[in-house]
Amino acid sequence: MTEKKIVMKAIVVTDRAAGTAGMTLVERPEPRAAINDVVVQVHASGFTGDELTWPSTWTDRVGRDRTPSIPGHELAGVVTALGYGTTGLSIGQRVFGLTDWYRDGTLAEYVAVEARNLTPLPGDVDFTVGAALVMPGLTAWQGLFEHGRLQAGQSVLVHGAAGAVGSMVTQLAREAGAYVIGTGRAADRQTVLDFGAQEFVDLDNDALEDVGGVDLVFDVLGGDIAKRSAGLIRAGGTLVSIVGPTEARPADGLAVDFVVESDRAQLSEIVRRARDGRVRTNIGNVATLDDAVAAFNPTERIKGKTIIRVHPRGLGDCLTPTKVQFTRRRRV
Ligand SMILES: NC(=O)c1ccc[n+]([C@@H]2O[C@H](COP(=O)([O-])OP(=O)(O)OC[C@H]3O[C@@H](n4cnc5c(N)ncnc54)[C@H](OP(=O)(O)O)[C@@H]3O)[C@@H](O)[C@H]2O)c1
Repeated sequence: MTEKKIVMKAIVVTDRAAGTAGMTLVERPEPRAAINDVVVQVHASGFTGDELTWPSTWTDRVGRDRTPSIPGHELAGVVTALGYGTTGLSIGQRVFGLTDWYRDGTLAEYVAVEARNLTPLPGDVDFTVGAALVMPGLTAWQGLFEHGRLQAGQSVLVHGAAGAVGSMVTQLAREAGAYVIGTGRAADRQTVLDFGAQEFVDLDNDALEDVGGVDLVFDVLGGDIAKRSAGLIRAGGTLVSIVGPTEARPADGLAVDFVVESDRAQLSEIVRRARDGRVRTNIGNVATLDDAVAAFNPTERIKGKTIIRVHPRGLGDCLTPTKVQFTRRRRV
C-alpha cells in the first residue's frame, strides 16, 4: 500500500531569471514540524518585492539549491501542530511573525516555523493587519531604536516615507518624540504628512540638502540618495540602511546596514501600538492565494503592502484544535 500524502496549495518559484513572473500556484506536501517548530495554518501572508533576488530564496544555508521554494516570510495564522520539544505556543493559538529566510515561506496554506520566531496575535487584531505589521514593524523598530539609538527630541530623515517600511518608521519615530522629515515622490506628500511627518521633501523637485542637519537618516532607497544623505548627518549621528552598505558614510557618525530579525518582545510592542491606534498599517492590496501570482505582478504600482489572505474566513477566531485538524486534512 502506498502512503497518502497530505497536500496544500502553495506558490513556488523555480526559475531565478524569471522574477515574480516565474511564480506558480501548485500543490505541495504539507510541511512537518521539526524540533522546536510549529506548523501554522496561514491566514494572511506578506511578501517583499525584491525577495526573488535574495540568495536565500534559492539555496539553503550551505548554498545547496532548495528549489522549488515557497516565497513570503511574513505571516499571521493559527498553530495546528507542535514539533518535538516545542514549548511556549499551543495548538489553536493565533500567532504572527517572520519566518526563516532559508526555509519555505508563507505563500502557502501551511508553513513550518521555529516557535521562537512567532508572537501571540491578540484576538481583536485581524490576521491581515497582523501580517502587515511584521516586516515594516520589526524593520522600523530595529532601525530606529537598536541601530539608530533614536532619542526624543532628535531629528530623523525618513526616505520612502509613503512606503511600507517608511510609513512605519515615520509613525514610530514621531511616537518616540522625534522630529520627522519624510521623503518620497511629489504625489506622496499628503500620505507622508498623514502618517505623522512634520515636513516632506519631494525627491524629484526639492533640494534634499535644504533639510539641513539631522541626527538619523533611515534609508530604504540607496544609491545617490543615500550618498547625499550621509552629508546631512550631524556629529554623532547615524545613517541606517536597509538596502545594503552605503558608499558614503557620515563624516563624524556611524553607518549601519542590517537585515531585520524576529523579535517577540518588539512585535508585542508593535501590536500593542496598533491596537491602541498609535500606529496603523499601510496595506495597498489584499488578494487571495489563487490570485497571488497576479497580485505580485500588478499592471500598475500598488502603494503600500500587498497581503495575501490565504484563509479568508478568519477561522482562527473560533476553531478548536480538533476542528483545526479536521479542516486541514486533504488527501490525494
Ligand atoms: N534589510 C531589511 O531587513 C529590509 C526589510 C524590509 C524591506 N527591505 C527593503 O527595503 C526597501 C523598501 O521596502 P518597502 O517595503 O518599504 O518598499 P515600498 O513599500 O515600495 O516603499 C518604498 C517607497 O519609496 C518610494 N520611492 C522609491 N524610489 C523612489 C525615488 N527614486 N524617489 C522617491 N521615492 C521613491 C516608493 O514610491 P513608489 O511606490 O512610487 O515607487 C515607495 O513609496 C525594499 O528594497 C525592501 O526589499 C529591507
